[in-house]
Amino acid sequence: RVVDGTRVFSLTAQEGATEFLPGVQTETWGFDGSYLGPTLRAERGERVAVEVTNDLGEPTSVHWHGMHLPAAMDGGPHQEVAPGATWRPTWEIDQPAATLWYHPHPHGATEEHVYRGLAGMFLLDDDASRAAALPQEYGVDDVPVIVQDKALDDDGQLEPGNGGEPGILGDVVMTNGTVGAYQEVTTERVRLRLLNGSTARTYQLGFEDLDMDLVATDGGLLDAPVRLDNVRLAPGERAEVVVEMEPGETTRLRSVEADLGNVAVPFAMGGNDAFDVLELRAADTLAPSPEPGWDASEHAAGDELDEADASVTRTFELDDSRINRQRMDMGRIDEVATVGSTEVWEVRNTVPIPHSFHVHDVQFRVLSIDGEAPPPELAGRKDTIYVEPGKDYRFLMRFDDYADPDMPYMFHCHMLMHEDDGMMGQFVVV
Ligand code: C2O
Ligand code: CU
Ligand code: CU
Repeated sequence: RVVDGTRVFSLTAQEGATEFLPGVQTETWGFDGSYLGPTLRAERGERVAVEVTNDLGEPTSVHWHGMHLPAAMDGGPHQEVAPGATWRPTWEIDQPAATLWYHPHPHGATEEHVYRGLAGMFLLDDDASRAAALPQEYGVDDVPVIVQDKALDDDGQLEPGNGGEPGILGDVVMTNGTVGAYQEVTTERVRLRLLNGSTARTYQLGFEDLDMDLVATDGGLLDAPVRLDNVRLAPGERAEVVVEMEPGETTRLRSVEADLGNVAVPFAMGGNDAFDVLELRAADTLAPSPEPGWDASEHAAGDELDEADASVTRTFELDDSRINRQRMDMGRIDEVATVGSTEVWEVRNTVPIPHSFHVHDVQFRVLSIDGEAPPPELAGRKDTIYVEPGKDYRFLMRFDDYADPDMPYMFHCHMLMHEDDGMMGQFVVV
């Protein structure tokens, strides 16, 4: 709906029930339905407004993960929506085309709200992404793939976490809320927008017998496609991949044994598990699709980051539940950034358990991991990144605008039990 030049969306968080397993109704939450929410889509330069209504029995919020926007519109723990209330954020889309998402962020209860089903995709478009040779017909050859795991009890109800590391690991894996999901493919190539929407599990996603071209990560297109067997995604991370199929072929996207780095007990973190995620079934005749490609200079124009511009370096030490030995305090501002400044954030994971580091408002570039250049799949813009035990990461980011001394943005671990436990801090841009 477009009203006076603003694209208006509405989302209502509500309770419901979903049939994940045949004949079993599982109590779930969703936006405008019983599980997950609609895909929102907007254009660079467009003004958007969302009417967020809370029909749950408790406060929630809706955060626009990956979005560059004013802190007061961010939907973090300072923008909770009371039961029965409606919150109306509005902002202008001012960043490259990307696969973003939205989910609740209530203080101390994010894990439960996301796990029950509150999440959806928020796709951004721009001229450069439309001009790219990529499949782009939504639902046909451009398909959202929200991967989540659930633990179901004997009655088929969602089991809450028990406080153990790394959070809830379920043995029921679903795509877009469907167990055993499949997609009919009618074109030579299909683009999958992968989102790890799980609360704790890290996946290593690839096809059983095909390579794939990684074309985009959290913040948008890479400089060029990268041919990969699989891609590791921690909670909150996204990747867009393009796969080429033969007529009549069937293949499966799987999560294979995940390389979690130097974690103490990989199997306890879900590292040894393997799952089918999505079956692709190609029709007997396939419409032609272009070979993925685009003009990187055009895509990045105006959005470059230069390390020589960095004026501030901050360091963040992650242990098992704190950042720089502190737990989240809603009343404490941890970092103050100056509007327009470019900064280096150095993040080090000091414990043998995994983390998924996320910064609100910005898309950063990975400068180095343990002093080395990042692998190609981490060379594009990121807002969330798996942080391996014992490793040092350096990120480059710029706080372009939206100064507000009174309203903070968050940075935190996106393994949601850790976040709720206080592994989160606040920064303002002034
Ligand atoms: Cu996706 Cu602060 O979160
Ligand atoms: Cu976020
Ligand atoms: Cu963590």
